[in-house]
Amino acid sequence: MNQALEVIILAAGQGTRMKSALPKVLHAIGGEAMLARVYRTARLLEPKHIHIVYGHGADLVRERLGHLDAVWTLQDRQLGTGHAVAQAMPKVGDDSRVLILYGDVPLIEAQTLDRLVDAAADALAVLTIELDNPTGYGRVVRDRDGRVQRIVEQKDASAEERAIREINTGLLAVDAARLRGWLERLDNHNAQGEYYLTDIIAMAVEDGVVINTVSAPDIEQVSGINDRQQLATLERALQQRQARQLMLAGVTLLDPARFDLRGELSVGRDVIIDVNVVIEGRVVLGDNVTIGANCMLKDVEIGAGTEIKPMSIIESAVIGAGAHIGPFARIRPETRIADGAHIGNFVEVKKSDIGAGSKVNHLSYIGDTTMGAKVNIGAGTITCNYDGANKHRTVIGDGVFVGSDTQLVAPVTVYDNATIGAGSTITKDAPAGELTLSRSKQVTINGWKRPGKKSSDK
Ligand code: UD1
Ligand code: CA
Repeated sequence: MNQALEVIILAAGQGTRMKSALPKVLHAIGGEAMLARVYRTARLLEPKHIHIVYGHGADLVRERLGHLDAVWTLQDRQLGTGHAVAQAMPKVGDDSRVLILYGDVPLIEAQTLDRLVDAAADALAVLTIELDNPTGYGRVVRDRDGRVQRIVEQKDASAEERAIREINTGLLAVDAARLRGWLERLDNHNAQGEYYLTDIIAMAVEDGVVINTVSAPDIEQVSGINDRQQLATLERALQQRQARQLMLAGVTLLDPARFDLRGELSVGRDVIIDVNVVIEGRVVLGDNVTIGANCMLKDVEIGAGTEIKPMSIIESAVIGAGAHIGPFARIRPETRIADGAHIGNFVEVKKSDIGAGSKVNHLSYIGDTTMGAKVNIGAGTITCNYDGANKHRTVIGDGVFVGSDTQLVAPVTVYDNATIGAGSTITKDAPAGELTLSRSKQVTINGWKRPGKKSSDK
């Protein structure tokens, strides 16, 4: 196609049935505002511009999605789909082809849109689908030879027309110059007193323009969201679609119905994901990574062969190859865990580097720490990184052994191969290769007796 493509996304409607303070098009599907998802799909067609017609909740929509590379057009009053498209037209060139999308029809796919745009060569192309129950939709009226004559809205349709099962999805593509002419002639003399975009079909027929219909491959792609039940239904449909794609790409999902991806996941070979895993943001899993049940991963990169055991929560972290994390580990932002490291149960790590092969296996807090390789941190060790006002760093060299129940009061450095005796509170740097400890000596009080109950208390 050498004609430039201009996409117009209609997103001004109110969405009353969401019963929400949030404009409908900002409600999330797959972790992303539905309008942003439609925009992203439109981008795949490489259009010249993407126009967004917005209105209801205008300030919030611009605040949340203003970063999208779109031409924003405010539709102050929602006078109908035809009126909405007309608002965007002054910024659309006559020599282009226009594709109209809805901001609340989020699961439309680029392949379908490609077919629709292609079908609009010297024609008007409408995306339609046959429904067992077409109630509420505009119906596609054809003549005896099957040629489309017009689209009639439910509220304006005769009983005979209401029996038609082929419906208008609302998505269409057409030449800009022609569209402009038809929009100028629209009126609102109909049951809803609205400027119907659908009225351009009959005008096109009158002008001798061919109407092509493209049939939508499945109902989910053209389903609109009006309430939270429909939102949940389409969320499931999206998750199933994503799960299917991942399995086809070679991922084992122990139960595709219990897997949620709200973002982008890229995977190596033979990744295994157990049930109830939630993945958000951008996650990269290397070859042979396994993710245990009930884990949450957000913006994480995990190297080959690493095992994330159940119930672990990992956010904004990079984890090397052959590492073992969890069960019950919490890895917080700005953490890097090198190859072969072990982070065990009830261990929290924040803004820290954990060197290769180092082990923090039980019940610890490691924050603002730089830890070398082959370190062993005993159970119950805490880096005291906060003095009540400021955060300080703990530096731990290679080969250090920290005994259980130790507090490292930052700022503090434990040099290479140092050993810290169990139960110590370390407030000063510990030298390399030596044993440092800070506990008081163990004593035994000979003949000491436990207090007994006083006889008068009986
Ligand atoms: C529209 C179609 C109908 C089709 C149905 C599919 C018309 C007249 N009717 O009906 O044939 O079967 O979609 O779902 O086109 N919008 C604006 N500004 C407005 C009005 C609407 O931006 O002034 C937006 C809405 O936010 C929504 C989309 O356009 O994203 C469709 O509007 P909606 O009111 O849902 O159209 P329907 O009456 O359902
Ligand atoms: Ca609708």
